[in-house]
Amino acid sequence: MEFYVISIISASILVVPFALKTFSPYVWLDILYFVDLMRILIMFVARRRRRPLFFVLDRFLEQTAASPDKPFIVFGDESYTYRCTDRKSNQVANALRSQPGYKAGDSVALFMGNEPAFMFTWLALAKLGSPVAFLNYNIRTKSLLHCFSCCKAKVLIAAPELKEAVEDVLPSLLEQGVTVLLMSKHCDTSGIESFSDKVEEASDAPLPRSLRSHVTFKSPAVYIYTSGTTGLPKAAVVNQNRLLTALAVLSSNGVTSKDAIYLNLPLYHTAGFIVGFVGSIETGSTIVLKRKFSASQFWDDCRKYNVTVIQYIGEVMRYLCSTQKRDNDKDHKVRLAIGNGVRAEVWREFLNRFGTINVLEFYASTEGNVGFVNYAGRIGAVGRVSFLHRKLFPYTLVKYDTERDEPMRDASGLCIESPKGETGLLVSKITDIAPFVGYAQNKEQTERKKIQNVLKRGDLYFNTGDLMRIDSDNFIYFQDRVGDTFRWKGENVATTEVSDILTIIDCLQEANVYGVQVPGHEGRIGMAAVTVKEDSQFDGSKIYNHVVSYLPSYARARFIRVQSAVEVTGTFKQMKVKLVEQGFDPGRIQDPLYILDDNAKSYIPLTAELYSSIISGGIKL
Ligand SMILES: *[C@@H]1O[C@H](CO)[C@@H](O)[C@H](O)[C@H]1NC(C)=O
Repeated sequence: MEFYVISIISASILVVPFALKTFSPYVWLDILYFVDLMRILIMFVARRRRRPLFFVLDRFLEQTAASPDKPFIVFGDESYTYRCTDRKSNQVANALRSQPGYKAGDSVALFMGNEPAFMFTWLALAKLGSPVAFLNYNIRTKSLLHCFSCCKAKVLIAAPELKEAVEDVLPSLLEQGVTVLLMSKHCDTSGIESFSDKVEEASDAPLPRSLRSHVTFKSPAVYIYTSGTTGLPKAAVVNQNRLLTALAVLSSNGVTSKDAIYLNLPLYHTAGFIVGFVGSIETGSTIVLKRKFSASQFWDDCRKYNVTVIQYIGEVMRYLCSTQKRDNDKDHKVRLAIGNGVRAEVWREFLNRFGTINVLEFYASTEGNVGFVNYAGRIGAVGRVSFLHRKLFPYTLVKYDTERDEPMRDASGLCIESPKGETGLLVSKITDIAPFVGYAQNKEQTERKKIQNVLKRGDLYFNTGDLMRIDSDNFIYFQDRVGDTFRWKGENVATTEVSDILTIIDCLQEANVYGVQVPGHEGRIGMAAVTVKEDSQFDGSKIYNHVVSYLPSYARARFIRVQSAVEVTGTFKQMKVKLVEQGFDPGRIQDPLYILDDNAKSYIPLTAELYSSIISGGIKL
């Protein structure tokens, strides 16, 4: 494999002069990016050659040796240096070793919110050579058990505030012989053992390396659950090799040991764990850890802790922009925002409000094998397409049939590449340097993400499930997730497009857009579940005027459902499936419902009478 990487590197460097000939104003940025990509690959290859094997934990130990007294984790009023973090994790590891139900190398599930103990425990388990499954702390009962069994864990370590959730599934866990540990000093529930007391008493002596001598690059390091919109979560296997490549994320974006990173996304997801935590291990930065994202405390925290780098997801940016304007909005040291999913208009508003911050939008997924970085700062784009990048990681956009929810095929059964400017499904070739490891205990879902016979008979690609578009300047834009579209009157509508239009309206806070079926009609008609801003009223005629002037008739949200809060998952991903199922029947839905009425030039209440004439076809939609 290393030979393969090196030959690709040499081959690619040889083509630089040809790439230079194709003039583009971005050519130097492209080259700089590519040089950086090469630097990362070369470092990766060098690390892969080290003996004994070199893993993320070893990078942490290197940083600890280099700057033991540097703060690594800051959490409220607590601060932990690298040395202190190292010792705390030794204590956790030593305490765990004396648990009869556990031996080094066993899988462990971690059920804990953002707090330093999460990081100590992960490092401890790395020292013991144990894979760790990150359970989303919002899940309960059946889903919790499902996620737990995906990773075949022998031990569950839970935060004290999640005790009740653990008790709900305790009989089942005990039946499977699982050791259940609670991070508190006491616990009187039989079957759950207190663990913090044991950690405090445990030695902080380093762990012998032999405990993790069984770990290879192929060993699972962590299981991260992907928040699917349907069905139960899937556990993506992140192996040691993958985690090692992840070390580069922050350093490739110019983050250094002088930076303080504000980590407010959940640690159980890729953004928080890999980009924030593992990324900081590589750069030797300080992590300012926050239990949960809070729009109102965000900038005060940044000022208080001298934060220089923030992480975001699209909704974070939107929430920040919808807070009350303050005089000190631009008074902070944040220079870089790294994340994904920010919409163009929110991006602009963010820069206006909070000053010149370099917004670095990237595209990646937990299990996927292709990524992009928008290093040129083009608003709205997730990255750039370059010849060299594409040589290294062959990917393409193929035409997608949203109605049938599958890629289109030509007469010979191959996919059809989308021309520039057109939306297509992003698929990425599965290779040695771009592998797809798959989901734990879920062969079916793993196979489902693979797609064969894309450009040639017998080839094998990873299906990202994301619809993208490449413009004439070679910027790539995220359009939608497959399924996040509705088709009405023969037109495909991206739900995000509609929600972007709706949320510009003064009185609306959030809009979750989806398509609902209407008896006697093909496709689905647009519907939005919205929340109204505090101190505002639902203004039907204002919304009507706005919608009519910005959206073609087929794309308009014909029905609006007013909710007191938009239901979200751990990463704020909007939950649509339930809303779609519930439809627009005022007899079944308690929330106020409105219908777009062209005669009244307004959204008017959807009464039972109106509803039945829609169903009977009396009202034409
Ligand atoms: C933040 O920076 C200021 C000025 O450089 C310094 O006085 C202050 O101690 C720093 N605060 C923290 C929490 O590092």
